[in-house]
Amino acid sequence: MGERAHRATDAPSSYSLFAMARPIPLLAPVIMAALFMNINGKVALITGSAKRIGREIALALATRGAEIAVHYRSSKAEAEDVAGAKGAVFQADLTDDCAVQEMFHGILAKFGGLDILVNSASVFSPAAADNATPEHWDWQMNTNAKAPFFAAQHAARLMRARGHGKIINIADVAGELIWPAYLPYSVSKAALIAVNRGLAKAYAPEIQVNAIAPGPVLFPDDYTEEQKKSAVERTLLKRAGSPQDIVNAVLFLIENDYLTGEIIHVDGGRHIL
Ligand SMILES: NC(=O)c1ccc[n+]([C@@H]2O[C@H](COP(=O)([O-])OP(=O)(O)OC[C@H]3O[C@@H](n4cnc5c(N)ncnc54)[C@H](OP(=O)(O)O)[C@@H]3O)[C@@H](O)[C@H]2O)c1
Repeated sequence: MGERAHRATDAPSSYSLFAMARPIPLLAPVIMAALFMNINGKVALITGSAKRIGREIALALATRGAEIAVHYRSSKAEAEDVAGAKGAVFQADLTDDCAVQEMFHGILAKFGGLDILVNSASVFSPAAADNATPEHWDWQMNTNAKAPFFAAQHAARLMRARGHGKIINIADVAGELIWPAYLPYSVSKAALIAVNRGLAKAYAPEIQVNAIAPGPVLFPDDYTEEQKKSAVERTLLKRAGSPQDIVNAVLFLIENDYLTGEIIHVDGGRHIL
């Protein structure tokens, strides 16, 4: 709280609320609590957090004292490893409505509520205009756009009961640039960006809904050296990001209450090239 108080009182004069709060020390913690979500003690669900970026987000939140609900579809052993002794694992295919409902019942039973949802689970499959099939569309739209929407719908019910909440959607810079070789994937992430804005409007003021659009961070296992090189070349910073770059953006969005409907590009400048 000391560090946060310092940050707030250093803020420009437009933060007059803090100036007014300073001579009333008893009120200050109440006002701070209303303006900055403290991760410590909060309950966080991170979808697709058995591996890769979702895993790093879950571990970072646990390190900051969150109680983590580690969601997985097929990677049970890895999910249990992330959850450790204090967290809990929840299995669900997020395209299965009943499974999703059961997962949220489980979270309520285990933790008594929910404060933070990070929609990270996703599928990524190449398909261009000439060869995309209805299956490509259904699979990617359902997993990357529809599933985060319904996870958020369930989460919002629990968050509203607590009077606050943070929903973070992990999108992709492809959702704005629309890659021709990954057309249904790109459109599914564009839809997620639209979902992000729609939910920000729907769930204000109690719940803030924001997105992160990563650039190249962790390549798919089947990427060739040529594909990796080309992805890096198409950033301004000429290197891939790291999962920690995404984690930093997640923490920023949780700890700042005056952002909603935002999309933060963590892409080495890819989106302006
Ligand atoms: N990696 C990058 O460089 C990069 C770049 C841009 C955007 N992003 C975005 O960042 C997020 C994390 O990326 P990532 O590469 O770490 O993800 P990922 O490895 O592609 O997928 C994460 C997890 O999603 C889960 N999943 C897939 N389909 C599911 C379904 N139907 N139901 C439930 N879970 C499902 C899988 O869980 P199981 O293993 O348990 O089956 C998988 O481990 C994604 O939203 C991705 O689009 C990543």
